[in-house]
Amino acid sequence: VRVLGISGSLRRDSYNTRLLRAAGELLPPGTDFEPWGGLKAVPPFDEDDEAAPGPGVEALRAALGEADAVLFVTPEYNGSIPGQLKNAVDWASRPSVPEGALFGKPVAVVGASTGMFGAVWAQAELRKALGLAGARVLDRELPVPVADELIGADGSIDSIEIVDELEAILAALVESAEERERVVSERALEA
Ligand SMILES: Cc1cc2nc3c(=O)[nH]c(=O)nc-3n(C[C@H](O)[C@H](O)[C@H](O)COP(=O)(O)O)c2cc1C
Repeated sequence: VRVLGISGSLRRDSYNTRLLRAAGELLPPGTDFEPWGGLKAVPPFDEDDEAAPGPGVEALRAALGEADAVLFVTPEYNGSIPGQLKNAVDWASRPSVPEGALFGKPVAVVGASTGMFGAVWAQAELRKALGLAGARVLDRELPVPVADELIGADGSIDSIEIVDELEAILAALVESAEERERVVSERALEA
C-alpha cells in the first residue's frame, strides 16, 4: 500500500509537517510512505484554467493517482482549513465527481495547533470537503493541541495517547486501502 502524506502548512518549521513525518514512522510494516511537497506550487483554483491547469495541478493529480491512500495533516487558520489546502482539494475534486483524483480514495485527516483544541474545526471541515469530493473519509480525528509543547524539533510527540491514536488511525487507513483493493480486484474478476 502506498500512502501519500500532505501537510496543509507551508511553514518550514511547521508542527503539522513534523506530525506528518512522525506518521511516516508509525505506518504498518510494508507500507510505502510518500510525503508530498508540491502544495505551494498549486495555483489558485480557477475554472477558466481547467483546460490547461499547469504543472502544479498535474503534479498533485499524479501524486494522488499513484497513491492507494492519503493522510492529510492540517493546521487551523481562523477556525478553518488553510486556503492553500482547500484550494488543492478543489483542484483534486475536478473535473467532476466521480472523475476527480480524490474519488473513491481512502483518506484520513489529523491536525495540530498551538491552541487548546488541536485544529478540530479544520479537521472537521477538511473531512467534509474531502467527502464531497468523493473520497472515502475515515471517520476519525486526531486533535494535537499545544503543538509547540508536544511536538519536538525532531518530530517526537510527547504524548503516548496521541502516538497510539495516530498509529491506530494509520492502521485503519491502510486497512481501508486494502479493502478497496480487494473490492476493485473482485470486480475486475467478475467483469
Ligand atoms: C492566520 C492564522 C490563523 C490561526 N488561527 C488559529 C485557529 O483558528 N485555531 C488554532 O488553534 N490556531 C490558530 N492559529 C495558530 C496555529 O495553530 C499555529 O500557528 C500553528 O503553529 C500552525 O501550524 P504549523 O505549525 O503546522 O504551521 C492560527 C495561525 C495563523 C497564522
